Amino acid sequence: MDKPTAPSMRAYGRHILICNHGDCAAPELGEALQRRVAELNRQSGLNKLRNPHRVKCSLVDCLGVCQKGPIVVVYPEGIWYHSVDEATLERIYREHILEGRPVADRIFHRLYPPGQEPAYPPHVRGDGPLEARLEEDAQAADEPTTSAETPDEAPNEMPDEQEATAAAVRAAVRRARKKKGLVIVNTGTGKGKTTAALGVMTRAWGRNMKVGVIQFLKNEHARFGEIKAAERMGGIDWINTGDGWTWTSDDMDETEARARHGWAVAQERILHGGYDLLILDEFTYPLHYGWLDVNEVLAWLEAHKPPMLHLIITGRYAPQNLIDFADLVTEMREIKHPFHEQGIRAQAGIEY
Ligand code: FES
Repeated sequence: MDKPTAPSMRAYGRHILICNHGDCAAPELGEALQRRVAELNRQSGLNKLRNPHRVKCSLVDCLGVCQKGPIVVVYPEGIWYHSVDEATLERIYREHILEGRPVADRIFHRLYPPGQEPAYPPHVRGDGPLEARLEEDAQAADEPTTSAETPDEAPNEMPDEQEATAAAVRAAVRRARKKKGLVIVNTGTGKGKTTAALGVMTRAWGRNMKVGVIQFLKNEHARFGEIKAAERMGGIDWINTGDGWTWTSDDMDETEARARHGWAVAQERILHGGYDLLILDEFTYPLHYGWLDVNEVLAWLEAHKPPMLHLIITGRYAPQNLIDFADLVTEMREIKHPFHEQGIRAQAGIEY
């Protein structure tokens, strides 16, 4: 009996890539779009392996655009769409995938070799040889214009007030596109300051960022749940520099000396640790108690913090100059507490 031959088929007709890296849009949006593509594939029969027009859809890491997401790219045409919500995705699916007419008003980039322009009209935004597109993009980046939003529209005559508002919006958008290492302060008397910082730590670790934690005041022998978790996660530098809390310390000189030492360790790590994120947990206390001069600390940070290092400082009583210095400040406020209302003490795995 003859051996059956494998059916000849292409792996797929189109490949849709959706960024879920998180900088251009929330990753959940990309994931929701991928689920929607799967539904549309089922409805249109383009999920069948043997269908040469099968549509494959993949979530991918950063596509290098990092703004106006979610970003969706359709291959083999190499057409890049921005700001793709579910309605736009459905248009892309219907008009581009099924009918072969790319959705002009959402295209911001396309890649194809010069001389191999597609059949559809060249005035479609994004069309043109790659070199021309790159030049056009570079010019657009220099111009204070929202032409990327309304590329084919004639410029409107705007009253002065509207123009001022539009200019403010454009300036805000430009600022929003900037990236910098943030100084984040979690302060206030409510619970959750360290917990919130550790949440960011987990997120950063999940993104393969280099992460470090320096704990001030908390006892160097403490084995809190988060320390055990960091050990299990691996690759997180965790340094305890304290001898306990100020109100349990038998020797305030020792506590103060340790806090000063902790700052020296932090300085060394900020300069040479190569971190993307460094948490200075309970660091507000040495500042609040005057063990460290807050102005000197801030001047040092101003001069030495690597521009892309994100620094999180936690603790009650954040000094006003630290608050002024920071990019993001959150105050935790207690509304209810199990101990204060019910006498329930801190529980392992929840509070520590
Ligand atoms: S994060 Fe989506 S393109 Fe970079």
